[in-house]
Amino acid sequence: MDSKITEREQWTSRIGFILAAAGSAVGLGNLWGFAYRSSQGGGAAFVLLYVLIVLIVCLPVFVAEMALGRNAMKSALLAPVKLAGTNWYPLGILFFIAPLGIASYYSVIMGWTADTLFHSLFIGLPSNLTEAETFFSSISSGKSVLIGHLLSLLLSALIVSSGIKKGIEKVTKFFMPILFLIIVFLAIWATSLSGAWVGYKTFLFKFDFAELRNPQTIRNAFTQAFFSLSLGIGIMVTYASYLNKKSNLPKLSIGVASLDTLVGLMAGLITFPIILTFGLSDAISESTVGALFISIPTALGSYGVVGRIVAVAFFALAYIAAITSLVSLLEVPVSSIMDKYGFKRQKSVWLITFFLFLAGIPSALNINILGTFDSIFGGVLLIFGGFLVSFFMGWVVPGKFNEELNVSKVGIKTTRYLKFMTRWVAPPIIAFGLVISLFDLLNGWVN
Ligand code: PFF
Repeated sequence: MDSKITEREQWTSRIGFILAAAGSAVGLGNLWGFAYRSSQGGGAAFVLLYVLIVLIVCLPVFVAEMALGRNAMKSALLAPVKLAGTNWYPLGILFFIAPLGIASYYSVIMGWTADTLFHSLFIGLPSNLTEAETFFSSISSGKSVLIGHLLSLLLSALIVSSGIKKGIEKVTKFFMPILFLIIVFLAIWATSLSGAWVGYKTFLFKFDFAELRNPQTIRNAFTQAFFSLSLGIGIMVTYASYLNKKSNLPKLSIGVASLDTLVGLMAGLITFPIILTFGLSDAISESTVGALFISIPTALGSYGVVGRIVAVAFFALAYIAAITSLVSLLEVPVSSIMDKYGFKRQKSVWLITFFLFLAGIPSALNINILGTFDSIFGGVLLIFGGFLVSFFMGWVVPGKFNEELNVSKVGIKTTRYLKFMTRWVAPPIIAFGLVISLFDLLNGWVN
């Protein structure tokens, strides 16, 4: 067992970690989740709540998750046990199950993305909403959805099977700069649209105070913050377990969270102008998971060649963003079974990939099942995980948390602030968000 600890891989550089973690964070959630959640009535109130949750709650949880991983130098499944004994094995199991649950449907949505990209490139875009809906039902059912799901899984599995440095770090270092370039290009292009200003207003300035008390808006803001930052389910535990002791955890977390939030906001500055220019705001807020795949292609379809080029750039961007996220979702269970059973990386990767293919079939064939998986695994479980992590580092093993902050020479004020936040501020606020989210979820099921 000891030999495995010394063999543990490490990121080659701090920037390697930042890009890999940002690669996990920036994903379909930024492009697709942000657009539909902010248009579900929340408007600017949703954006404000989201940013506040990131700053007040998610940043301390982020550091806590990283401290857990780096201190234990173990996979997410075994890290809590290493620090606090077998009573905390259930937390490891949550870290093992939640990424599997998310990955199973995430790759299905990636399949839709690839299909839309393919159509934009080679076939053409729908010219009206009805055509777009027919197009969406064709890519989200039958054989094509299963092929898209399988290919997306295989692609990510190949990257994960090459390991941390040669796989995940190399790929994210290559793709992340491209992704930032595309998004800047698209945001600049969106300013030229006739509905750009109305789009920005709807997204950022339509402030309705009542929305701050709307359970759906609160739930959306919590879910979006945790989902978008890939928090609460062991991803950052796993990625930080490959960090050296010198890296300053708070600085790294601020770097990753800033990149992710910037991309989320920029994505809003792209999707809202597009959708409002073409008068499709109802299409995006009414439908949920399918929003991007119906409204964006329709809008761009009426914009000629330029629209097609933009569609290719947009869906390529989404796919690149998604690969680097799916890779992180795979790495958690893969490293966990390597750690627990001593399996080789290759064997673990293919076992998990095969399992995920099967587990994703219900979501691939039924969009309602996909929605339910998203509400549970991509929603309440993440928030619950975030609560447990902050409670764990703040109350159960505060000495280890201290140790991790001291070892990387975090200043005394920052250390005090983080300890205070993980003990007294984050747990009650997350518990509040969790109760509201559960209430809103159950309410939706009953009605
Ligand atoms: N953060 C990714 C996104 O916004 O699409 C998705 C994701 C990856 C969610 C990893 C959760 C996670 F643990």
